[in-house]
Amino acid sequence: MKRILFLILIVSLFGTMAFANGGSDTAAADNTIVVGVSFSDYSTDRWPREAALLTDLGQKAGVQVITQVANQDPKLQNDQIENMILQGADVLIIIAQDGDAAASAVDAAAAEGIPTIAYDRLIKSSNLSAYLSFDNVEVGRAQGRGVTSIVDSGNFVMLGGSPTDNNATLFRQGQMEVVQPLVDSGKVTIVADQWVENWDPANALKNMENILTAQSNNVDAVVASNDGTALGALQAMKAQGLAGKVPISGQDATLAGCKSIVEGELTMTVFKDVRKLSPMAMDMAIALAKGETVPGLTDFTLAQLTLDDTLKGSVPCLFLDVVQVDADNLYDEVILTGFQPYDEVYRDIPEGDRPPRP
Ligand code: GAL
Repeated sequence: MKRILFLILIVSLFGTMAFANGGSDTAAADNTIVVGVSFSDYSTDRWPREAALLTDLGQKAGVQVITQVANQDPKLQNDQIENMILQGADVLIIIAQDGDAAASAVDAAAAEGIPTIAYDRLIKSSNLSAYLSFDNVEVGRAQGRGVTSIVDSGNFVMLGGSPTDNNATLFRQGQMEVVQPLVDSGKVTIVADQWVENWDPANALKNMENILTAQSNNVDAVVASNDGTALGALQAMKAQGLAGKVPISGQDATLAGCKSIVEGELTMTVFKDVRKLSPMAMDMAIALAKGETVPGLTDFTLAQLTLDDTLKGSVPCLFLDVVQVDADNLYDEVILTGFQPYDEVYRDIPEGDRPPRP
């Protein structure tokens, strides 16, 4: 009995101490900041890369980083976020699978006084402390320009990203800024306008197979929204002898995307230097956890960010520049900056046809 009383005393003492530190977390007891990072998935190769980057940056800054990946399940993602709060996260960085669904996780965190950063993808809540991303409308414009600089008339296929990812809407907005005038002048006909569930290359392959069948292969250009889905679509195009003949856009400057560009199949990609986004997010997360105000953010309304006028409120934002990349500047932008490895990108190009090893 004495032992039990003693235990109760210890537990309540620790409970009070944790409360005094602003939360019932183990890490709060030793004052280490805990940063919870929630990923939608690791399917696109940028995400595991950024998980490693963020973890490394956190370690160097002396904070504890907890990462979770939700395998493209919005409910699982919200559960994982709730769990990270229970584990004592002082601040959250979220790459949302679903910008609507994740809003409740952001609101729940805010109710506990835990700041949240929407990383790369918007979450539709004005309780966000910040939204850090790239200029996503410009990504779309670059894709439109990349394709229309090769073919600016005929039958176009629009292949959007995941319908639950607000970025997909912004990419499409930028793409249409370039493509719509060509439609209006009668030069271009959009023969298919689709969205690729979960950004899954296998879905893009299926979509493209069906489109090519429906159009009897009469397709002149494909505005796809990232490298993964473009490479899926290219598989279907390859089967019909169209790869390398019909221009197609991508995004992310992935290894496979860059390799396909130097091999003459993918027309272009958009290089977004995630090596700049991750440190910004980690610095900001640490500042927010310390209760500091973060400079350099500009308020945007949720209506502006989503093109949905019914949404109220605004979010402090920061958007990084992007680089349009094709066969002409890939070496300078992607290889010389060390973003992708020379040996891998040019692996299947004969030695004599390669640019010099950096
Ligand atoms: C988008 C992101 C892209 C791409 C895609 C698939 O939200 O901005 O870079 O990776 O998701 O994960």
